Amino acid sequence: MQYGYFDDEAKEYVITRPDTPTSWSNYLGSTEYGAVITNNAGGYGFYKSGAQGRFMRLRFNSIPMDQPGRYFYLRDMESGDYWSASWQPVGKPLDKFKSECRHGTAYTKITSEYEGIKSETKYYVPLGQTFEYWRLKVTNTGSKKRKLRAFSYCEFSNQWNTTQDQVNLQYSIFIVKGEKSAPNMLRYSIHENLYIQHQKNPAINDYMSEWIALAGAPMTGFDTSREAFIGTYGNYKEPAAVLKGECSNSEAFGDNSCGTVQADIELNPGETKEIMVLLGIGDANVEGKKTVEEFGTFERADQEFEKLIKNWHSKLNSFSAVTPDEDINHTVNMWGLYNCLITFAWSRAASLVYNGERDGLGYRDSVQDILGVSAAIPQEAEERLVRLLSGQFSNGGALPVISKDFEAGKQKMIPAEKFRSDDCQWFFNAVPCFVAETGNFDFFNRVVPYADKGEDTVYGHLKQALLFNLERMGKDGLPCGLLADWNDCLKLGYHGESLFVAFQLRLGLTTYADISKRLGKNDEADWALSERKKLDENIQKKCWDGKWFIWAIAEDGTVYGTQSIEEGQIYFNTQVWSVLSGAATPEQMKTCLESVKEKLATPYGLMLCAPPFIYASRDIMSSVVYLPGIKENAGIFNHTQGWGIIAEIMNGNGDRAYEYCKAALPATYNTKAEIRQSEPYVIGQTTYSTYSKRPGNTRVSWLSGAATWNYYSITQYMLGIRPQYNGLLIDPCIKHDWDGFKVERRWRKMNLHIEVKNPSHVSKGIEYIEIDGKRIDSSTIPAELLKDGSTIIAVMGKNALPVENERM
Ligand code: NOJ
Repeated sequence: MQYGYFDDEAKEYVITRPDTPTSWSNYLGSTEYGAVITNNAGGYGFYKSGAQGRFMRLRFNSIPMDQPGRYFYLRDMESGDYWSASWQPVGKPLDKFKSECRHGTAYTKITSEYEGIKSETKYYVPLGQTFEYWRLKVTNTGSKKRKLRAFSYCEFSNQWNTTQDQVNLQYSIFIVKGEKSAPNMLRYSIHENLYIQHQKNPAINDYMSEWIALAGAPMTGFDTSREAFIGTYGNYKEPAAVLKGECSNSEAFGDNSCGTVQADIELNPGETKEIMVLLGIGDANVEGKKTVEEFGTFERADQEFEKLIKNWHSKLNSFSAVTPDEDINHTVNMWGLYNCLITFAWSRAASLVYNGERDGLGYRDSVQDILGVSAAIPQEAEERLVRLLSGQFSNGGALPVISKDFEAGKQKMIPAEKFRSDDCQWFFNAVPCFVAETGNFDFFNRVVPYADKGEDTVYGHLKQALLFNLERMGKDGLPCGLLADWNDCLKLGYHGESLFVAFQLRLGLTTYADISKRLGKNDEADWALSERKKLDENIQKKCWDGKWFIWAIAEDGTVYGTQSIEEGQIYFNTQVWSVLSGAATPEQMKTCLESVKEKLATPYGLMLCAPPFIYASRDIMSSVVYLPGIKENAGIFNHTQGWGIIAEIMNGNGDRAYEYCKAALPATYNTKAEIRQSEPYVIGQTTYSTYSKRPGNTRVSWLSGAATWNYYSITQYMLGIRPQYNGLLIDPCIKHDWDGFKVERRWRKMNLHIEVKNPSHVSKGIEYIEIDGKRIDSSTIPAELLKDGSTIIAVMGKNALPVENERM
């Protein structure tokens, strides 16, 4: 079933049926002032923190999953009929109510038509501001004059703390006030005495107050008390004030507040009128007044919208492609990168699933997030990378979460058993990616503090990361599992051994050796390669199980992920990382990837392990708590799908890489959305596998490491445009019957036009490249041969040039 389509030209996803299988959401604003909004205008807003700065309420995990939100109710003052400008919350029959929602770059636009009235609502937060616009345009498409009344609605949190707001009612309902503070302005505040005692919201160091203003029409009524507007036994579908046809000008004094301004709109046939609500944080009499004075005209609102679009589109234009596959085009040209940028901004904090409590930067995921955004926002990527590097302790391990008030050099060392074994190994993916993107090789020499004490160059941080694991090896010579490796559910015991981290460490040692040579530190390179040799021997001694690599070795010596064990017989991560790290012999690579295909591939993506755990000890395989076929228990964990694609590309199998890519690609499900249920334009953390009763259903939209690896594997491996330290590698691995593809790529401030031609229909292999008409016989184009506007033509064929790949 299809609920919408991609409009790549406008960079929008257009939802044409509002009754989507789940609420399909989008983001507005920035990390300073953020918002989640759905196709039915549901959602919430927050300042600095999804949980601690939550000023707009959403009732989590409800039915529907997105209420309340940012609503406009419209009432025909003659017939008494009423509806909402978004299909929900009133929910008029869909044979009479037509609705279209366009989710774009940090804005959402909903148009509806009902009984001769067309409405368009547009929601966005201007760049750098702490308020939002809700614009409502209403057109009379009928032949008689219409008298309408519009009511806005949202609910404010009583305390800017999502949990307290919803559970600590003995306190939170006694502090909120709402009042009219100017002819077109409502003011919301917490009782002043709270300021005297607590001064500010301690979590975000700010006052908790909001305002809402109406522009474009006089405010003919208002309600700031939720009970007055909705009615004690009313609901969002039938609010008392809309039923009655007027607000009661209520001033909330305790209990709950709401944001309702009332405006009257008279329309002659064919006439259009517009009003807008500005809603922000701060004192109505100060910030509210000032904002309305500066931003309260339609002209200014239009300018702010243009600025917003320009800013986002410029980031998204860092990479665009025309390939023979439309789903890949939608992903590359808008949604894949947009998803990475939103994930980078919000980490794993705020969505319809995360209520904001997961504030701060989860270490491992945040390091990986760098891969997806380095080309689009190199400066922000650098700042984030430095912050993450400074979250590394001087012993080489990492803080599990970098909180908002984190200060390098001042962190207390965490207990040994709290360290994750993989955290800092992700540097070996992120740092080279960033350096190759920017060409800033000196970044390796930049001095960055450690979390607890001391400082070192970035290169020194990398060495500490290696030492951290090398100094914590188990009895078989593999890195200890510590609290967990990438897999949160893997509790091997501190001294249990993680083969996944062994492969990460191998990649780290290879990468470190390469960087060392470039920095002229040959002794360090020799050291890294000799450590790698020892590690390789240990891996080969203990970890090959005949058809695949084992999973891990627990502290008591039990080997997981072998043919002789029934549950969790084969583990995906160790197969693909054996390839990514270069540890697998060519024969092992072929064999283990065949095993992946045979045992783990499903039409919806690659399962994390198989068969699922039923009886395993929760103390070791805590994924046993999940139903079979979900999440880490033999579910399709989308974070890992990109690794499967890259492994097959390293294996030279473009057809299979494409097959894996398409199976898990959100856009593939656009015409069969009932299978995936979640938004076809963004990734989800997990997909139910064929071991479950609901194969294909996908959950936890937007915020996941899946965003980075999905985008990165397609752009840098499948399309194969992969920056190196000294040049740009063109090394695609595609479905063999593609004739080629075109890419526009921003690299080191140059806009490059790249065309890959595939006349011989191979999957992989570049025969030659022409740069502005000049032929080179190398698949890496030296940076000095490129200039802004260069045209690159890369011709694929059977007589392929060797690939000098400097980084993963
Ligand atoms: C979700 C976490 O965010 C991520 O860090 C982890 O790697 C996966 N779970 C797998 O367990």
